[in-house]
Amino acid sequence: MSPPPEPARPSPRVDCAVDGAVATLSLVNPARLNAMTAAMWAAIPAHVRSAEADPAVRLLVVRGEGRRAFSAGADISEFEKSRTGDAARHYNDLNHAAFAALKGASKPTLAMIHGPCLGGGLAIAACCDLRIADDTAAFAIPAARLGIGYDPRWVRPLLEILPPPRVKDILFTARRIPAAEALAMGLVDRVVATASLEATVAEIARSIAANAPLTLRAAKAAVDALTRHPESADLARLDRLVSDCFASADYAEGCRAFLEKRQPQFEGR
Ligand code: COA
Repeated sequence: MSPPPEPARPSPRVDCAVDGAVATLSLVNPARLNAMTAAMWAAIPAHVRSAEADPAVRLLVVRGEGRRAFSAGADISEFEKSRTGDAARHYNDLNHAAFAALKGASKPTLAMIHGPCLGGGLAIAACCDLRIADDTAAFAIPAARLGIGYDPRWVRPLLEILPPPRVKDILFTARRIPAAEALAMGLVDRVVATASLEATVAEIARSIAANAPLTLRAAKAAVDALTRHPESADLARLDRLVSDCFASADYAEGCRAFLEKRQPQFEGR
């Protein structure tokens, strides 16, 4: 009798599922610890755009499929064809577009991190506003072990989180940083047991989603602009976003709900 056929491996992809106010982007390449293929990088911007355009979505969560890994970085099995010669430029463009989409999201973004979070996977997590990890999470940028030139555009998100000496440590040593050390250095915002990770992220998501979307948008824009361009941030734009809050129905609702001792129901306008 012939052996039963092997279960089909899911093809590498990025899924996006909307559940209530939360859009979850899942990095799916489980046979390779959710390593990112070119097609996966290419899929991210459209998912971010659709989450941005959906008024019901209040925040984005990025995670690796399953519980084994966030992402073990770029899929090295593709490097020979995709990261040499002209193909390398195209590959870099896909990377940049994915990072730019995540960093440019006006809604809050949160990385939920199980297991390895390496290379490009760490760059994705660094492009999110918050990083919540479990105690199996481990971080590294192995570029120096592979001889990869680490693009300055990917260094920038790390510098928004960590002081330069910590970034140099990560890049120079290429060492594996366990969850506890990542928490101590500020690379992640919270570390919890694996069994609690999904509930913790759901609770943080619930508390963010309950708040006034226009206030969140103005706050995120201010933190990002003032971090990225401290001397030349477009204060007029940031002021307009704050004015939008005061002019909104949500502002009236927030004040009314406080006086009526009830939870506000915000609509983002
Ligand atoms: N690209 C392609 N395949 C990868 C991968 C990557 N970045 N990371 C892991 N895989 C594959 C492995 O080759 C292995 O495939 P196989 O089962 O066909 O042999 C599978 O994923 C499981 O990985 P494995 O190494 O067996 O798991 P492990 O638990 O022993 O080790 C890591 C986990 C993450 C430490 C190890 O896989 C690793 O070092 N990966 C490379 C990370 C890296 O350099 N990323 C940066 C890329 S720029």
